[in-house]
Amino acid sequence: MHPPLLAPSILAGNHARLADSAALVAHVGLQWIHIDIMDGHFAPNLTFGPGTVAALRPASTLFFDVHLMLDEPHRYLEAFAKAGANSISVHIEPDYDHPGALARIRALGCKNGIVLNPGTPAEAVEPLLGSVDLVLVMTVQPGFGGQAFRRDMLPKIARIAGWRRERGLDFRIEVDGGIDLATAAECRAVAADTFVVGTAFFGAADPGGFARSFAQMN
Ligand code: DX5
Ligand code: ZN
Repeated sequence: MHPPLLAPSILAGNHARLADSAALVAHVGLQWIHIDIMDGHFAPNLTFGPGTVAALRPASTLFFDVHLMLDEPHRYLEAFAKAGANSISVHIEPDYDHPGALARIRALGCKNGIVLNPGTPAEAVEPLLGSVDLVLVMTVQPGFGGQAFRRDMLPKIARIAGWRRERGLDFRIEVDGGIDLATAAECRAVAADTFVVGTAFFGAADPGGFARSFAQMN
């Protein structure tokens, strides 16, 4: 199982100072930053585009974990890879060629990920588990930071972790939405390893202290 990894979500930082947010994440000793891309259709909000990612790339050595909340993610894979994404995750819910998109992401030199909304059962991604680097289990409905953690997602995480163990696979299991130190520990208990944290990190009086507390988790 992967050790716990904290991926602050830049969505919760100041959008006029995105580079400062990335610099803060690096400054407190973290390796990953999560970048939420929304199209106003798949999720009811608008955020960043490939131009934003490209503008952040030269000043940062962080691992860019790009989460595409798009109706047609397959149309934008090249753009985000070219912009400097290190990982690109796509949702299972929209209708497109999921295996094709996942293979394309790897062919572009990125890690790939498949994402499930709270209402989507684990079985929806089960056939793809051998072809992914990461499974992202949404623990809120996508769209906005600061929502309450969906505790009813824990059995889904456990189920996916069970398949991972039984099949000897090593994809990451990432959680996103309402994650703080307490809910991260609940997800860790069912074998999640990658923790997207927006509000609890960027809203903390001391983000470095948050990262140090997170690092105490086993
Ligand atoms: C939700 C986004 C999350 C969000 C999490 O639509 O995918 O990445 O930034 O924010 P918090 O941690 O505030 O729930
Ligand atoms: Zn996200």
